[in-house]
Order: sequence, then C-alpha cells, then structure tokens
Amino acid sequence: MGEVRLENGKRAIGSPKRPPMPLPPRSGGGHRGPAPFSLPHTAQIATLKLATGVHLRNRGLELRWLDEEARMFQLDGAKVVIIGGSAGMGLATARVAMEHGAAMAIAARNPSRLDAAAKDLEMRFGRTVPRRALHVEDRVAVRAFLEAEAPFDHLVLPGSTVNPTLYDDLTDGDARASFDSKFWGPFWAAFDARDLMRRGGSVVFFSGVAAERPVRGYVIGACINGALHAGVRSLALELGKLGLRCNVISPSLVDTPLLDALHALEKEKITAALAARLPVGRIGRAEECAMAAMLLMCNHFMTGQVIGVDGGHLSIP
Ligand SMILES: NC(=O)c1ccc[n+]([C@@H]2O[C@H](COP(=O)([O-])OP(=O)(O)OC[C@H]3O[C@@H](n4cnc5c(N)ncnc54)[C@H](OP(=O)(O)O)[C@@H]3O)[C@@H](O)[C@H]2O)c1
Repeated sequence: MGEVRLENGKRAIGSPKRPPMPLPPRSGGGHRGPAPFSLPHTAQIATLKLATGVHLRNRGLELRWLDEEARMFQLDGAKVVIIGGSAGMGLATARVAMEHGAAMAIAARNPSRLDAAAKDLEMRFGRTVPRRALHVEDRVAVRAFLEAEAPFDHLVLPGSTVNPTLYDDLTDGDARASFDSKFWGPFWAAFDARDLMRRGGSVVFFSGVAAERPVRGYVIGACINGALHAGVRSLALELGKLGLRCNVISPSLVDTPLLDALHALEKEKITAALAARLPVGRIGRAEECAMAAMLLMCNHFMTGQVIGVDGGHLSIP
C-alpha cells in the first residue's frame, strides 16, 4: 500500500501500481450511492478502498479494517477445486475465483472440453490449472483427484447429470442414476474432502428451484434438490467441527450448455415463457451463479444456507 494523488490533488491510500480511480457517484441526500451489484472486481475494490478510505479518514476512524474488508472478496493464497469446472456455472466460478487470486483445479467427464477449459483459464490468468477427467458418481476417482489436489480450501460441486423423465415413464434405474449423480456424487465428495481441506474452507453444492417450484418431468430432480437443501443444515454442523462451512446454490433457469442440452429445440420458447413470469424479466447467467459461489466461499459467517439465484422465481404467485 502507498499513497496516490487524486485528480483533485488530495492524497489517498491506494496501491501505487494503480492510477487513482474516480469516486462513485453520489445519490440523493449526499450519501454515496450503492456500488453496482456486481462482484467486487479488483478495480472496483480499489475504487471502494479509495473512496471509503477518504471518507473514513475524514472521520478520523482507523483504516486498517478497510484492507480486511477488501480482502474478504479475495481468494489470494486459497485453492479452489471444482468438479464440473469445464462449462456453465462451474467454469464461470473458476474464472471469477482465479480473477480474485485463487489457485484452481477442475474436473469433468469429457476430456477434450475439460482440457480446452483448463487451457483457456491458464491463458487468461497465467497459472497452471490441473485437471482430471472423471465422473462425479465414481467415488474412488473423485477421492483420488481430491487427494492429488490436497490441501485445498474450497470445493465447488456443480458437476452432475439428471435426465428429466416424465413420472409415468420413470424407472428405478433412471431414478437411482440421477441420485447417484446429483446427490450421492457431491455428498461423498464433500465427505471425502473434509480431511483434505484447510480450516476456513467451504463446500458449495448446487441444487435448483425445482425443490420448491414443481417442473413437469423433474420429480426426481425436485427430490434431489430438496435432499440437498435439507442435508446442508446438518452438514453445516458436521463440517463446522472441522472449521469448514457448506452451502447450496439453488438456481432457476440459467443460460448454460445444460440448457442447450436439455431444451435444444425449444430453448427459446421455454426461456421466453419463464422470463416473462420472473420478476426480473429474464433468465439467469452463469456468472451470476459464480458471484453467489464467490460470496459463499468468501463470507465466513455463512454456512448451512440455501441461496436462491433465481430471478425471484419463488415469488411467482
Ligand atoms: N442451468 C440451469 O438452468 C440450472 C437450473 C437449476 C439447477 N442447475 C444446476 O446447477 C448445476 C450446474 O449446472 P450448469 O447449468 O452449469 O451445467 P452445465 O452447463 O451442463 O455444466 C456442467 C459441468 O459439470 C460437468 N458434469 C456434468 N455431469 C457430470 C458428472 N456426472 N460428473 C462430472 N462432471 C459432470 C460438465 O462437463 P462434462 O459434461 O464434460 O462432464 C460441465 O463441466 C447443476 O447441478 C444443475 O443441475 C442448473
């Protein structure tokens, strides 16, 4: 940290490497307006540090906490392992976590897509990204991957497959395969990871709004999501004993490769119909789920929570 000179000639605390950033606009009443609702990007953090730093110094308050506040959204020195990191929300989380300083390792089933994703991350961030082709249902393979990447801080688990099936067509095999993938895979991954993770770390599971809002052809998906929601509260107690946390992200429809795979022919129709009913008027983006994953990794006071990233889906009457 050093002192930098603002445009108005005043000095402020900031990184000497960065040019001074403009202060955020004021809202009515003379208070600073809320920061735009986006993940604190490094540049935004610098802006916040500068702006709030000047504000606090004027009030004669201690500045040291400010650095700690800014670092809350940093993953410098932390290692994140993502199963399902080659596409969709997992890849978006890998990007934003690396942008905020994390070391990364990713896994998924398709080796060529996995390799392409890892290379893209390496190109963007200039750091090696170990990868392993595996199925989350294969507990032995997952455990071996986790051991190879230990110790790590955060385990993010978006990788799973549930094939929607109409209730009348459901078979025992379909139902069990879905549970093996989206419930038991992440469940045992978290169980096996707990002695490989550093204290202060966390597990991020992924469920979906179908737990609370029925989707035709997705009874088993709803059961799995509900099981994850119920399970995370108990798991928070178990993992808490080890200094670890766990939370679930529950998305509504989000524009990822999953959507293309599930609704190839009717994607436009389905997304437009839901968008029209959602309070926000559109479906989600993978990056918005990545923001939630960042929050859950970085906020050490959050555990046992189900975080809806759903455009207000649960508010639809
Ligand atoms: N997108 C939505 O609208 C939506 C809505 C509600 C809930 N969700 C949930 O959110 C999570 C992430 O979804 P997404 O949309 O990001 O999915 P996505 O775009 O299909 O990406 C899934 C990632 O996980 C990997 N993966 C899939 N099945 C796997 C398996 N059995 N073992 C290991 N890796 C596997 C995929 O790569 P490979 O295919 O190469 O393995 C890919 O890297 C999922 O749990 C999903 O059910 C999504």
